[in-house]
Amino acid sequence: MPQITFARDGSSIPVEAGGSFLKACQDHDAPHDFGCTVGSCGTCVLVFVAGSEHVDPPKPDELETLDMCTDVQGARLGCQLVVRGDITVKPL
Ligand code: FES
Repeated sequence: MPQITFARDGSSIPVEAGGSFLKACQDHDAPHDFGCTVGSCGTCVLVFVAGSEHVDPPKPDELETLDMCTDVQGARLGCQLVVRGDITVKPL
């Protein structure tokens, strides 16, 4: 099962392949902050330390929210991430 690692504190949680980053975080009380959980507030913005190739590409709605909240290349919304393999992330 893929692992999500949080660079913030070095902790890791499991996630089903093709599973939701948000759900995995909620199920495991993970150290990542969320707000709306539907891709509109930007609270959950993160960047990859490793494994950015192991998530599905952003959809247009996610890109629109990212445009409004950051200029950082490769930033993503945690609540919209679909995880396919091991990733390491940190909040932006
Ligand atoms: S929690 Fe609001 S955009 Fe992800």
